[in-house]
Amino acid sequence: MRRSALSIFVPLALGLALAACRDDQDPAGAADLWTRVQSSGYREWPRPRGYSTREPSFTLHGGSVDIFLNPTLAAARGSSTSLAEWPVGSLVVKDGYSGNSDSLSIVAVMEKRQDGWYFAEYSADGSVLFSGKPKVCVDCHDARKDYSDWLFSVERPR
Ligand code: HEC
Repeated sequence: MRRSALSIFVPLALGLALAACRDDQDPAGAADLWTRVQSSGYREWPRPRGYSTREPSFTLHGGSVDIFLNPTLAAARGSSTSLAEWPVGSLVVKDGYSGNSDSLSIVAVMEKRQDGWYFAEYSADGSVLFSGKPKVCVDCHDARKDYSDWLFSVERPR
């Protein structure tokens, strides 16, 4: 079910991959977030259900992806009451690899702040490709706005 629902994004992703360039709206903030993410040990964090190992990506983030949920988000997804939104402080990191190789191509991050999700995408060396609320990120993740408060790989408790 999850795969077939997401497969509609593949043609869109291909179109966007061709059009994509950079949109670094917040260079200093993105650099700070990179430092925090790199020092967090995020590759030890829990993963979404269905992503217990590296999985093929449905979008332009790379051929295959590892996704990690910080402790705030991991705790919230286990909530026994319905959540309209993920709590402020929730953070998701997605490592995107080229094809089926072990070559890291991008690191995508979403962090929930008071004013909503902050998006960032980096190349493997940490140079910033996108930060802030880039239209390309917002317009696609918007498809999951109500269903799971903008996240594709995690379902909000309902
Ligand atoms: C064409 C649609 C599309 C665009 C554009 C897009 N994403 Fe995603 N994103 C997805 C899908 C689908 C997933 C689920 C995992 C996968 O298939 O790679 C995802 C997953 C993620 C995740 C893991 C959390 C989750 O929602 O599952 C992060 C973090 C993320 N994207 C960040 C970004 C950032 C940052 C940008 C902009 C640079 C961006 N995304 C642009 C479709 C998109």
